[in-house]
Amino acid sequence: TIYEATCSAPVNIAVIKYWGKRDTSLILPTNDSLSVTLDQDHLRSVTTARADPSFSSPPERLWLNGVEEEIKSQGRMRTCIDEMRKLRKGLEDKDDKLPKLSTYGLRICSENNFPTAAGLASSASGFAALIYTLASLYELQPAVSTSHLSRIARQGSGSACRSLFGGFVAWQGGETTDGSDSLAVEVAPQEHWSELQALICVVSDAKKGTPSTAGMQRTVATSPLLQHRIREVVPARMKDISQAIKARDFNRFAEITMADSNNFHATCLDTSPPIFYMNDVSRAIVQLVEEVNRASEEAGKGKIVAYTYDAGPNAVLYAPKENVSLVLGLIRHYFPNADFDDTFNLLSSGANAS
Ligand code: DP6
Repeated sequence: TIYEATCSAPVNIAVIKYWGKRDTSLILPTNDSLSVTLDQDHLRSVTTARADPSFSSPPERLWLNGVEEEIKSQGRMRTCIDEMRKLRKGLEDKDDKLPKLSTYGLRICSENNFPTAAGLASSASGFAALIYTLASLYELQPAVSTSHLSRIARQGSGSACRSLFGGFVAWQGGETTDGSDSLAVEVAPQEHWSELQALICVVSDAKKGTPSTAGMQRTVATSPLLQHRIREVVPARMKDISQAIKARDFNRFAEITMADSNNFHATCLDTSPPIFYMNDVSRAIVQLVEEVNRASEEAGKGKIVAYTYDAGPNAVLYAPKENVSLVLGLIRHYFPNADFDDTFNLLSSGANAS
């Protein structure tokens, strides 16, 4: 028998940002976060894993986009594989008819359908695809829930826990020191707000300056503003944006999304030494969006588009479908030389077996 599984997982883009860890080895965040999962067809990681008793020395090997990567002891990849094995072992202990896959070696191949260099996070979709593929190989579901799997994906990369679900997803930061309550939950399913679309403006495909893992801990260590963000800003916004999503209130959703992107980048500036992720083009897009929204509001209509920026200069714009061609036209008009990507239908079904 051949034991093999292939699954894919999409990229997610946070509207309430995760920035800061209270535990760097378990990857426990300093605040809750909330994201929207993008369409599987456009930006995703696909992972294939095979288990075989003959795989040895080393028992596990991993290829990322065709290049073999070392699986470091103590590393995040190691943790994820070990945790998934433990879950399989648990099932085998209860049912001795199950083949002992937990004792087999593994060969894992993972690929992104987008260039890693595009400055778009690939760790989220990458670890989510890995976890979902191993869950499928080990036939863990339905015994093990998706939220339970998200706790393991979290230990690969924090934002990865949110890519196991489609639609609108919250990562509940949790309070315990063992991380048992730090997991992803669905806020609203994919179908709930399918008119909402995302437009990714690749401002620069150069590799970003400060990697997020290092950057966020520098912010934790030095930024007084982050403490205000953790205690006051994020808890209120998590509530408000969840309500806006449930009510499909784009105006409110846009307001909170843009405010949180700006608050996150303000904490980066408040870090010592400061971290700059946005550049002049990023800021010009902010101004354009603010201007367009102001004009629309003056005409008695609500906001028509929202921006958000992660740990890099690229803009992700959210807009209801009816506004997308207008937004795209404006962006192309004011940034004629930019190599912006197409629009993506935002909602997807999260990680998937293919
Ligand atoms: C700005 O999840 O990449 O995109 O947990 O260290 O792997 P690690 O960090 P990562 O950080 C993502 C930061 C962010 C905001 C977000 O996605 O919520």
